[in-house]
Amino acid sequence: MSYENILVETRGRVGLITLNRPKALNALNDTLVDEISAALDAFEADDGIGAIVVTGSEKAFAAGADIGAMAKFSYMDAYLTDYITRNWERIKTCRKPIIAAVAGYALGGGCEMAMACDVIIAADTAKFGQPEIKLGILPGAGGTQRLPRAVSKAKAMDMCLTARMMDATEAERAGLVSRIVPADKLLDEALAAAETIAGFSLPVVMMIKESVNRAYESGLSEGLLFERRVFHSAFALDDQKEGMAAFVEKRAPQFKHR
Ligand code: HXC
Repeated sequence: MSYENILVETRGRVGLITLNRPKALNALNDTLVDEISAALDAFEADDGIGAIVVTGSEKAFAAGADIGAMAKFSYMDAYLTDYITRNWERIKTCRKPIIAAVAGYALGGGCEMAMACDVIIAADTAKFGQPEIKLGILPGAGGTQRLPRAVSKAKAMDMCLTARMMDATEAERAGLVSRIVPADKLLDEALAAAETIAGFSLPVVMMIKESVNRAYESGLSEGLLFERRVFHSAFALDDQKEGMAAFVEKRAPQFKHR
C-alpha cells in the first residue's frame, strides 16, 4: 500500500511509521491520521511484527493539526468532519505496543499523538506543548485529559493555559516521557526498545499493555482485580512454561508466540 503523508517500513520485528509532511512540520490532517490507522491495521495483522515505532523528523514530531485546513471551519465543519480525530482512537486500540520517538516540536495534536502512544522516548531536542489557546481553541485530541494523567493537574493547567513549551528534561522529570536520548541516537534507541519488546511473548506483551491501560480506565480495586485475572490466565500460555523452564535451566527462553 502506498501512503501520501507517512512512510511505512519494517525493521526486523518492528513496524516503523514516519510522519512525512516535512514542509508543514508534519502538521496533522485527516489523510495522515487515516494512513496511520491503516498502517496500524496492517502491522497488527502481521505476525512478523511485535511492536511499532512512530516518529517524525529532526525538527518536528508534529507541530499540531493543520491550522490552514481548520482556519475557516464552522462549528458544523468541525463537528461533521471530526477533523483528524475520526480515526484517532485507533492508536489507543492497537493491541501491539507503540513507541513515540519524539525529536523537535510535539505541539497540539502532535503532543496528543505522542501521548496516545504507549511509551514516549524523547530526543534531547524535544519540545512538548499544547498551544491551542493561542489560536482561540483548546486541545481536542486528548490534551486536557491525557496530560493531567501524565504530569499532574497543575502542570497540565500550566501547559494548556499559558501555551508554554516543556523541554525534554522537564518532560522526563514530570513523567511525560520515559527516557531522553541524544537526538542522533533517537531512532536507534526507539527501535532497540521496540525490538526488545518484540522479542518477548506477544500475548504477554498485549496483556501488559491492556493491564497498564486499565489503570487509566478504572479505579484501583477494579484495576487490581483485572490484573490478577489476567495474571492467572498467563499460566495457560506455552510461553509461561517456556519462560520459567528457561530460567530454571539457566538458558535463554525460546518464546513460541512472538
Ligand atoms: C499548518 C504548520 C503548522 C501547523 C507549522 N506549520 N505548524 N502548518 N499547521 N500546525 C508550517 C508553517 O506554516 C510553515 O509553513 C512551516 O510549517 C514551518 O513553520 P515555521 O513557523 O516557519 O517554523 P518555526 O519558525 O521554526 O516555528 C516552528 C513552530 C511554529 C514553533 C512549531 O510553526 C508554530 O507555532 N506552529 C504552530 C503550532 C501550533 O499552534 N500547534 C497547534 C495546532 S492546533 P510555510 O509554508 O510558511 O513555510 C491543534 C489542535 C489539535 O493541534 C486538536 C485537533 C482535534
